[in-house]
Amino acid sequence: MASLKTVFSLLFLISFSLNDSLTSATKTPASVVRETPLLLTYHNGPLLSGQITLNLLWYGNFTSSQRAIILDYLHSLSHPINPIPSHQNSSLSPPSVSQWWRTIGKYVVPNSQNTQKPAVLRVGKQAIHSSYSLGRFLTRANLSSLVRTLARPGSITLVLTAHDVNPEGFCLGTCGHHSWVRLPSLERAPYIWVGDSSSQCPGLCAWPFHKPAYGPQGPSLVAPNGDVGSDGLVMNIAKLLGGTVTNPLGGGFYEGEEELCMEEVGLCMEAGSACVGVYGKGAYPGYTGEVLVDELSGGSYNAVGMRGRKYLLPALWDPQTHKCETLV
Ligand SMILES: *[C@@H]1O[C@H](CO)[C@@H](O)[C@H](O)[C@H]1NC(C)=O
Ligand SMILES: *[C@@H]1O[C@H](CO)[C@@H](O)[C@H](O)[C@H]1NC(C)=O
Ligand SMILES: *[C@@H]1O[C@H](CO)[C@@H](O)[C@H](O)[C@H]1NC(C)=O
Repeated sequence: MASLKTVFSLLFLISFSLNDSLTSATKTPASVVRETPLLLTYHNGPLLSGQITLNLLWYGNFTSSQRAIILDYLHSLSHPINPIPSHQNSSLSPPSVSQWWRTIGKYVVPNSQNTQKPAVLRVGKQAIHSSYSLGRFLTRANLSSLVRTLARPGSITLVLTAHDVNPEGFCLGTCGHHSWVRLPSLERAPYIWVGDSSSQCPGLCAWPFHKPAYGPQGPSLVAPNGDVGSDGLVMNIAKLLGGTVTNPLGGGFYEGEEELCMEEVGLCMEAGSACVGVYGKGAYPGYTGEVLVDELSGGSYNAVGMRGRKYLLPALWDPQTHKCETLV
């Protein structure tokens, strides 16, 4: 059953990536469509581990409440305290964001004698570019130049673009990507970009909080923080953070043709993207699987972060069980 689910999630992913920019769609190897279970393998390059600074660049107009939703999620990743048990029934205490992140710590370089420390992310600098200084259409080169203003060795730069910014490729099969830039020191520094999709393509990038753009139509869920754009950003940041830490420069864990996956880091199936569409047990295309529902707001979630914030986070592929592990 698990492998069947994996195949379903693969087919789901493929149906979503058919709209990828022409080049990546035509380059997608036919071997991606096959019936064996997903297996992410290691490709002899570095993984990120230990203390990592996450520098943030907010491009465009974000409200302080939108920033708080995202910052609370990022701060929760390495927050050691488990959430307060739900008062109704303490045996049903929901999983925490840091528990979710622990799966990423299971990705280790094979035969490294377990000396590798799990990645601990700490939010570092934040830059707010609310004046749209590079305009509202950003090319890949514009994005890289924004990244370079913050990127440092040992850091991940996270660029978030507001709902009215249209970076190259956004909504054309992609909600964000991760890659790297070369620093003046010649070191390579990983970065992530994700766009707020609320007014451009919520059906692609903010499902299940919006009706899906393609495929089976189920009812949409209520966003746990009441903001389709920011709750959607969190889901996509989560997915890409998992991929960035376990495959920062293209030589980490992924499944796919090496030549293609090296050329476009993050295009292939990684820790965070392998389980696309799976949020709870029993997921199938168009259905998230069982998730928790907040009694007051009606918001759907599967993890709790700092200050009781609720989030819906994608299942991660577990390198020990070789399955998409769901939290609830
Ligand atoms: C930013 O958002 C505020 C409130 O929604 C709005 O008044 C303002 O015009 C926006 N600024 C830009 C540059 O879009
Ligand atoms: C708490 O949940 C457990 C398992 O669902 C159930 O057996 C138990 O009766 C519940 N306790 C209370 C006080 O509701
Ligand atoms: C954005 O990138 C394009 C080409 O990729 C370049 O021509 C343009 O000058 C860049 N814009 C800014 C403001 O740097």
